[in-house]
Amino acid sequence: MTVNTAKPRLNICITCRASADANGATDSRETDQPRERDGKLLYDALSHEMATRTDPASFDIVPVECLSNCKSGCSVALSAAGKWGYVYGNLTIKDHAADILKLAEAYAHTETGLVAWRERPETVRRNVIARIPPIGV
Ligand code: FES
Repeated sequence: MTVNTAKPRLNICITCRASADANGATDSRETDQPRERDGKLLYDALSHEMATRTDPASFDIVPVECLSNCKSGCSVALSAAGKWGYVYGNLTIKDHAADILKLAEAYAHTETGLVAWRERPETVRRNVIARIPPIGV
């Protein structure tokens, strides 16, 4: 039997563009200027925040390319062996960055991946797009 010792993951889509209705975000097609992907900016911001922490992280931040939630970007997914997985969408750095990390921390400390509604940071509670059943439970 193999024991999986990998930490839970906060997967961040680095190819996302913020949805037009995500708190007034501007669609890049409205400007002539190429700009960095919103998902990459979110990944950079959260990675920087994690790097400045003194306490060890209970989860890993992993860049991924597309979570098939492109129309509701920015998107992230929480996953871990034996736990429910979650996809969150319509996220922005300005409104959600700090709470995404709080949510990932709460997720990491659950046994099943189920974070109680009242324990989810308020700004991201309603951003769940999907949840995926665990394997082997
Ligand atoms: S590009 Fe981010 S979900 Fe598809």
